[in-house]
Amino acid sequence: MSIVGIDFGSHTASVAIWYEEKNVVEVLADDLGSRTIPTAVAFRGDEIITGQAAISQMHKNANNTFDDVRSLLLSDSVANINVPLLDKDLTVQEVSSHFFRNIHNQIKQQVGKVVRDCVISVPKSLDEDIRKRLVESAQAGGMRVKALIEDSVSALMAHHLDEPSTAPTRTLVLDLGWSATSLSLYNVSGGLLFPVGTTTLSEASGCTFVNLVAAHCAKEFARKHKIPCDDNKKSMMRLRRECENAMKSLSTGAEATIDIDSLCEGVDYSSKLSRARFEDLITIPFMHLKNAINALLAQAGWSADSVQQVLLSGGGSAIPKVISTLKSMFPTAKFPVGRFEPSETPCIGACLHGKFLSQQGLIESAPTASPVAPILTRGLRIASAAGADSVEVLPVNTVLPVRVELNAALPAGQTKGFVQLLATAVELADAATPLGDLVFEHAAEGELRLVLAVSELGEISLEVVQSADQTVLANLTVPAAEA
Ligand SMILES: Nc1ncnc2c1ncn2[C@@H]1O[C@H](COP(=O)(O)OP(=O)(O)OP(=O)(O)O)[C@@H](O)[C@H]1O
Ligand SMILES: [Mg+2]
Repeated sequence: MSIVGIDFGSHTASVAIWYEEKNVVEVLADDLGSRTIPTAVAFRGDEIITGQAAISQMHKNANNTFDDVRSLLLSDSVANINVPLLDKDLTVQEVSSHFFRNIHNQIKQQVGKVVRDCVISVPKSLDEDIRKRLVESAQAGGMRVKALIEDSVSALMAHHLDEPSTAPTRTLVLDLGWSATSLSLYNVSGGLLFPVGTTTLSEASGCTFVNLVAAHCAKEFARKHKIPCDDNKKSMMRLRRECENAMKSLSTGAEATIDIDSLCEGVDYSSKLSRARFEDLITIPFMHLKNAINALLAQAGWSADSVQQVLLSGGGSAIPKVISTLKSMFPTAKFPVGRFEPSETPCIGACLHGKFLSQQGLIESAPTASPVAPILTRGLRIASAAGADSVEVLPVNTVLPVRVELNAALPAGQTKGFVQLLATAVELADAATPLGDLVFEHAAEGELRLVLAVSELGEISLEVVQSADQTVLANLTVPAAEA
């Protein structure tokens, strides 16, 4: 049984297919060989067009073209979309389902048969209603969603860091997409992924870079021809599209040409953009990016030298300045390169997760109606004596896997200790449920650490560790079903 991984981006989607018979993963390519599909849907005449075809006619049919169906679907403030051509409102699920239908058809064409099961890579922290909308929309388009995973987790999976043989490694994942850059820190160890910190910034993104280049070109056009075009929606739309193509070709070439017939008031625009000029134009976003990375490291208490590997994901991470900046910030880190483009990282990771589910026999039991990322269904609390007040360590809905460390100390002269692990009450009026007790003796003086971890499958472990010599004084494991 084959399975599909979909990177559902705000700008483009990529699709990877795992062929069980051949045990290979391939990225879907359309008739023109393009491996990225713009997440766009348009209504024109009596037809519905999607992907690149929708983008290509957008400047002539802007009101009936939706170039970022993912953002519509993921926004809880948008329920319906007015389509002037149809003179009616459609639900966002319905509009986006046409996008998934296109993917469904392209897969059928490439594989030669219908493959419905898929894993979708999405940004983090989507609430339950939004997940439901996404699943409904994919389902209406002919896809059967078996799991949703976070973009940063798919990047880790694409590089096989979820395999049990992985040595402990401090990892930074940078996903430079169209709408934002997301940065995530993970402690990766023995196949477990422990999120340490994350941040998202929209100041450095494909969209900001393209807008800066387009503003530069509009200024040049106004200077040369005395015609301002920056207020002209159609001109700017075309200019932005060409600037994006120029930005992409500057990732491999030193110079790009931007040519647009009749950009504004019948006047053509033609210009060359060097890589150096492009890098100059995006200086400020890069300052934001560096500051955000430094702030995230500081928050986690990590030095740049302690980061052992950096994974680059998202289309924008092909930009040479991104790679050189990261390499200079993390001179001792490894930059693993997969056998795929950085923009394909999330779909490959999602597909490998689907392969894992399939090989483990989990695919049929994987949720279809409303799949959720693994989360804690009850909060976890800790008390220092049975019946004593407990403190919450992990709140309900914490995304799994997770691992936290707390510092603790025994009163002076005391060598025996007690820790109780509890799950928060389901109803407010109920008391928290004890899950287990840890009793330990012979603790040396000094600091202790409580290490609480919950695996992706919900197994909880709690350890008391003596900080001075890392001795584990006591530990406790609670199988998933009991928690
Ligand atoms: N080879 C390349 N060189 C430079 N930029 C590129 C390249 N390929 C893609 N991009 C740019 O990367 C950005 C889109 O990346 P990606 O497809 O990862 O975004 P997305 O996943 O749709 O967006 P988001 O993750 O924000 O939802 C676009 O601005 C695109 O122009
Ligand atoms: Mg993305």
